[in-house]
Amino acid sequence: MGKVLTLDTLNRALLLENIHPDATARLTKAGYEVRTMPRALGEDDLIAALHGVSLVGIRSQTHVTQRVLAAAPELLAVGAFCIGTNQVDLAAAARRGVAVFNAPFSNTRSVVELAIAEIISMARRLPEKNANMHAGVWDKSSRGAHEVRGRKLGIVGYGNIGTQLSVIAESLGMSVYFYDIADKLAIGNARRCSSLEDLLESVETVTLHVDGRAGNHGFFGEAEFARMRPRSLFLNLSRGFVVDHVALRRHIESGHIAGAAVDVFPAEPKGNGEEFVSELRGLSNVILTPHIGGSTEEAQQDIGDFVSTKLIDFAESGATSMSVNMPNAALPAVPGTHRLSHLHQNVPGVLATINRVLAEHGVNVEGQLLRTRDELGYVLTDIGTTYSEDVLDELRAMGVTIRLRTIESG
Ligand code: NAI
Repeated sequence: MGKVLTLDTLNRALLLENIHPDATARLTKAGYEVRTMPRALGEDDLIAALHGVSLVGIRSQTHVTQRVLAAAPELLAVGAFCIGTNQVDLAAAARRGVAVFNAPFSNTRSVVELAIAEIISMARRLPEKNANMHAGVWDKSSRGAHEVRGRKLGIVGYGNIGTQLSVIAESLGMSVYFYDIADKLAIGNARRCSSLEDLLESVETVTLHVDGRAGNHGFFGEAEFARMRPRSLFLNLSRGFVVDHVALRRHIESGHIAGAAVDVFPAEPKGNGEEFVSELRGLSNVILTPHIGGSTEEAQQDIGDFVSTKLIDFAESGATSMSVNMPNAALPAVPGTHRLSHLHQNVPGVLATINRVLAEHGVNVEGQLLRTRDELGYVLTDIGTTYSEDVLDELRAMGVTIRLRTIESG
């Protein structure tokens, strides 16, 4: 089951789906021969392209299935240069010791900037003013136009995006309220609300930044819109399925909701060119955008840097920090040592067995770290550079060993 893979024999990387050139630059600098392709690959083509490849980078369209993983024994890690990782069989990858990384934070700032732009646009009624001007209508008036300074913003979901939005909205002079189902530290002067109802009744603008857990399907509907204060603004840049768009349309048409900005939809076109169908089309002071909250050049560049660094760190030091399918462990490199990275089934006594094997061969441990995650255990062990192959053979022969790698440090 186990195998020893040495880094210096595995230095080829494959980057698919137009990943940012910064990723190529980083991998090249780290000694990789990088092959890039603009498109996704189907299963058979991917299997062929992965021959001899240790690191692969994909975005949302390439599916790394169990069959692909089984046919790519040299593969060490998969970088999903995006947020989602549904396109990778994470469990199958973990069972083979293939670490999977993504970029959960890289586009948060982009989402926040779009939300701020939309809040100001709606408060100034820019969608209507702009449409009127294009239709030749000059409507110079301050009626219904507001500054955002001093206005109350309610953030639902105070995670990576919600907290950053909180900081930037406060810097514009907004009063921030938030509601989250988890205990969250209030940043700056933000006020925590004890319930969603409390938030909806307190603020003039409601913006959703909840995650996509199953329980959030249809979580914001008729009852929640009805609770919002009259003439409030509403934004959703989180997930399409969390909002009932029929209820939203009704509240916009009645004038109860004064404006809305929506970036995500329950059903989105598969690609450019397919018609966008939504209850929200054709409403004034409603900003509709095609799921572009996180789509900026800066976010793509950050994703390229972030994920390629994770891949290189894993290959060079065994670090699995923020991997989505492996126990998370990282040890600083110690020059003049070899590192053993050992992925195993998480059963009692594995660490003791590894250390017994090392001790019996007179191998001293210079540093060691064990982390577990569900049925997996992962231990990084730094040892001196002189040891016999028998040590590796014995570790590999342990019944629980999934993958063993030796890495030369520093
Ligand atoms: P996160 O996981 O850091 O934060 C989500 C927060 O929502 C967590 O604190 C969680 O406790 C809270 N939450 C979940 N359900 C809740 C509920 N029913 N009521 C109150 N709080 C709830 O996620 P992050 O990175 O801040 O992203 C937020 C959303 O934005 C996600 O749904 C993500 O998919 C979406 N997103 C959209 C993009 C776009 O292009 N429009 C780009 C990036 C992310």
